[in-house]
Amino acid sequence: MGKEGVKVAAVNVKEIIKDLNRAYADEWLAHYSYLYMARTVTGPGYEDMGEFLEEIAKDEAEHAEELANRIQELGGLPLTLFSEIERNCNAPYPKPPKSTSDYKGMIKTVTDAEAGAIDVYNKIADKTKGRDHVTYQLACHILAEEVAHEEKFEDLLG
Ligand SMILES: [Fe+2]
Ligand SMILES: [Fe+2]
Repeated sequence: MGKEGVKVAAVNVKEIIKDLNRAYADEWLAHYSYLYMARTVTGPGYEDMGEFLEEIAKDEAEHAEELANRIQELGGLPLTLFSEIERNCNAPYPKPPKSTSDYKGMIKTVTDAEAGAIDVYNKIADKTKGRDHVTYQLACHILAEEVAHEEKFEDLLG
């Protein structure tokens, strides 16, 4: 980011970069987990479930991209190694259930991960509100999508 861009962000920029990198790690883990489930799901509703999971996995990859852009605007770099992603996440890997036809287990994996993400973006929004407008807007934008993800999967429980 240009000098003025950093100056107007009245936050501890290093701390925000760290927070954004943690969220970035969460997004990659969610992306991998959801895509894994989308590709391996079996059972009577596998097509719908696969489609739902793939769609939301793509959103998580998009979030990772948006975070990577903001991290670089702030003068940082996104995590380089995949091993760093596992070490720097906010929550552990959203583990798919053992059975590839356990839809309830998959829904739980997704809704738990989404609840965690909602908490993470809420905190980033609180920290940057009125201080770093660009990061604040990004956190709110991603937050809204995580809320929609959670709702979509909760609705599947019927
Ligand atoms: Fe996300
Ligand atoms: Fe999500």
